Amino acid sequence: MSTILASPSQACLSSRPTGPLRGTVAVPGDKSISHRALILGGMAQGRTRIDGLLEGDDVLRTAEAVRAFGATVERAAPGCWMVEGTAWRRPTGPIDCGNSGTGARLLMGAAAGFPVEALFTGDASLSRRPMERVLAPLRQMGADAQGSTLPVRLRGGSLGGIRFVSEAASAQVKSAILLAGLRAEGEVEVIEPSPSRDHTENMLRAFGCDIERAPGRVRLGANRTLRGTDVEVPGDPSSAAFPLVAALLVSDSSVTIHGVMVNPLRAGLFETLIEMGADLRIEHRRQSGGEPVADITARASRLRGVEVPADRAPAMIDEYPILAIAAAFAEGRSVMHGLAELRVKESDRLAAIVAGLTACGVDAWEDGDSLVVEGCGGRPSGGATVAAHDDHRIAMSFLILGLAAGRGVTVDSAGMIGTSFPGFETLMRSIGGDVS
Ligand code: S3P
Repeated sequence: MSTILASPSQACLSSRPTGPLRGTVAVPGDKSISHRALILGGMAQGRTRIDGLLEGDDVLRTAEAVRAFGATVERAAPGCWMVEGTAWRRPTGPIDCGNSGTGARLLMGAAAGFPVEALFTGDASLSRRPMERVLAPLRQMGADAQGSTLPVRLRGGSLGGIRFVSEAASAQVKSAILLAGLRAEGEVEVIEPSPSRDHTENMLRAFGCDIERAPGRVRLGANRTLRGTDVEVPGDPSSAAFPLVAALLVSDSSVTIHGVMVNPLRAGLFETLIEMGADLRIEHRRQSGGEPVADITARASRLRGVEVPADRAPAMIDEYPILAIAAAFAEGRSVMHGLAELRVKESDRLAAIVAGLTACGVDAWEDGDSLVVEGCGGRPSGGATVAAHDDHRIAMSFLILGLAAGRGVTVDSAGMIGTSFPGFETLMRSIGGDVS
């Protein structure tokens, strides 16, 4: 198995104000698609070849889990993985999902369809996160699950259908039900209050499964057999967000990221930055691996404050930390609504953003489930050590602030960056960022 790359409370990382950021780079593969490719490949008949897999800790844990359930999972070359699917067997030890909510929730859904028993575990952060949102529908389908946070013991097999009306737009909940539903008897339908990311649906179709879709509604068809296929993983827009926002904030910068996935259900940050006045060009739109992809160029821009409606949250749920950094440099106040879910991510991100911005000299506060950031209309002071709470996206966001602020920023725990963006430091340095 490949080395696990991330570890909590690893050394501090610092960033300092720099000259212009310039260059053309690519970011690692999309995390959501990487998890799904391994899981569907592990359930499918025949061989799946995955190119561009994100080799970050979260995804490597999923690879290990799929192997523990009996599939053959091999790394043929960097980013190129071969999976030979099988009917899942009882694993010999616990399934350790590390830091990954997506890994845990999707794997529990997939395993629920097989007559296996498994104990799912995770690190301290994941063990605090709610699992009931997927376990309740899985129980309704007939799975036996003990626990509502990890560790969870799950016994699957002999599932019935479900028509699940989800309270939240959650791709993880929807995907867990669909994956369990592949082996259930009867109708399987998920209805969401608004559409969440649809990578599971896109990929199920690519693996040959019948699926009916309408906005906010998805239903499995009669043919639920998966056949191995080739998957090309596009660049992760949630990772591209960091160098792109850095280029917007550092004077005279111009950075292009090649091959970024621009699925509209993931593109809320780009839409918001453009509303803020960002010079962000999305060009050479094309299809890759069943997903829309483009090259994105960001040039240094004067930003203005923005009001982000709650209904945009599903399309940018992981991007609020970096949007809050952009808002700190903007002219005027930004208000982002509907962020309750941020309290149960890898850390309480609402609290972490407010504390970090305050330490860096920016006025920011929570107002119910909204985040308010009073933009400086220029450079905030920076010069602080920020608590990242072992959260990769909080760490990367404040390192970007430190590149463009009056003084640099240190984050106290940067080890978890490897869960989603291995090579972040090297990539930022390659475009001129002073991160070490
Ligand atoms: C993900 C869905 C999102 C997101 C997470 C990845 C996925 O969570 O925050 O990082 O791959 O399905 P939701 O379940 O809230 O949509």
